Amino acid sequence: MKTAIYPGSFDPVTLGHLDIIRRAAACFDKVYVCVMVNAEKKNPMFTPQERLELIRRSVADIPNVEAELWSGLLADYAVERQSRILVKGLRHATDFDQEYQMAAINKGLCHDLETVFLPASAAYQHFSSTMVREMIRYGQPMEKYVPAAVVDELKKRQ
Ligand code: PNS
Repeated sequence: MKTAIYPGSFDPVTLGHLDIIRRAAACFDKVYVCVMVNAEKKNPMFTPQERLELIRRSVADIPNVEAELWSGLLADYAVERQSRILVKGLRHATDFDQEYQMAAINKGLCHDLETVFLPASAAYQHFSSTMVREMIRYGQPMEKYVPAAVVDELKKRQ
């Protein structure tokens, strides 16, 4: 069975993430969405458990996708799940520069680990969790940025 891991901090999951998840799920038998801590990103809007729950609700209709939390190294999670493929979405050159480095770090930690890049769909090229958090702060309608599960959660919090 060909499995892949789609890691990220997902604070919160966006329609851009969901697009990558669906496309990865069409390429692999099983995709693990791994909710992780990005040490560079302080003051998260959602707790890791909340982010996980929002992803689980958002992927409920995709049978070969499972979401989990992991607080350690991504390379260790890959070993744990016996998967050697990491999927990353690329929006622009800045993503490429960062992701190219991370791919090398992960390969250095675990030589069998390959990183596969999927280009962001044109509609989502400018999407980011940071942008979404900014829109939330200014009370913008969220339907065009995040999955319905996140919209529902935000409405409950208003
Ligand atoms: O969605 P993000 O914040 O761009 O995701 C980055 C993430 C969480 C995938 C990255 O920071 C990460 O892999 N963190 C886990 C710790 C780790 O394995 N570090 C080594 C690779 S850089």
